[in-house]
Amino acid sequence: MSFYVAGTGSALPEKVVSNDDLAQFLDTSDEWIVTRTGIRRRHILTHERLEDLAIASAKEALADAGIGGEEVDLVLCATMRGDTVTPATACAVAGAIGSAAPAFDINAACVGVLYCMEIADSFIVAGKAKTVLVVSCEAMSKLVDWTDRSTCVLFGDGAGAMVLRAGEGRLAGELSTRPDLHAIRMPNIEGNSPYNMIGQEKLALTMDGGEVYKFAVNAMGRNIEEACAQAGLTPADIDWYLPHQANVRIITASLKKFKIDKDKVLLNIDECGNMSATSVMVLLDQYAKKGTFHCGDKLLLVAFGGGLTSGAVIIEWKKNQ
Ligand code: UT7
Repeated sequence: MSFYVAGTGSALPEKVVSNDDLAQFLDTSDEWIVTRTGIRRRHILTHERLEDLAIASAKEALADAGIGGEEVDLVLCATMRGDTVTPATACAVAGAIGSAAPAFDINAACVGVLYCMEIADSFIVAGKAKTVLVVSCEAMSKLVDWTDRSTCVLFGDGAGAMVLRAGEGRLAGELSTRPDLHAIRMPNIEGNSPYNMIGQEKLALTMDGGEVYKFAVNAMGRNIEEACAQAGLTPADIDWYLPHQANVRIITASLKKFKIDKDKVLLNIDECGNMSATSVMVLLDQYAKKGTFHCGDKLLLVAFGGGLTSGAVIIEWKKNQ
């Protein structure tokens, strides 16, 4: 017994920012961003609170699953930084859906949703939950330095959610970390303690793009192989690949050795950029809503991110189960 995906949802900020919009105030171009990354546009928070997008996506996922919030036994939220340090965004979501279930946030950077899916699996296998709501939300526009063209053009904001219910839909889960404290880094606020002798680091996300690129290609390839082996499958048996949407070149390079038909590799990076943990969640919801997945299809979700974390989860699509 594990879980199956019973419903999905997503919510993106209204404001769409194109590469040309960025070129108005940065030394960049649509041509550079598209050829280096595959990104054309991204959604950016303006008047919305991140929490409200998380709640909207959660309500959509519950409606899609045909259940009420009172049936949820655990609420998890994958985020690097919600609107508040405390309460956790998961608590705001629990309150909004009328759930008194345990609720907490998980920070595994861009791999957060896969970590949440594995935690959900553990709760369900241990008999502590039958229905888990996994939410993800990221306000990347509030973490990056908007004068740094090497990072700010890459990211977008958004939220997504999935309802996981006890069943036979999880075929494999593989998580790992190769600790590196500098490749992707966003410091926290030091506060104003009169005793603090550590200075405030610059409050902006920094990244060694080349180092992350190499890690990502290797880690995604390895996680795919390991997850497939765990499920007793080969990469060719997977119907749909849902990779973290960081860079279309990373996705192509990491999948190259498996000789996968490119129609099986799902993308939304052109319209959404890199939404960190939220990328694979929104991707899943968008393609589910398009009717791409059919009962019995095997989906492989794979991601990498700050930490450096990485992972892959294989599920069998069982909606309508
Ligand atoms: O979710 C995980 C988060 N992080 C990632 O996934 C990032 C992984 N890394 C990457 O995706 C790529 O390394 C980048 C897209 C970040 C960079 O691509 P690249 O092909 O590795 O470019 P580069 O860093 O080697 O930079 C090439 C040039 C540099 O100029 P010089 O030194 O050759 O004169 C940069 O200054 O491109 C310049 N550059 C830009 N030019 C125009 C960097 N950013 C920009 C920009 N517009 N936005």
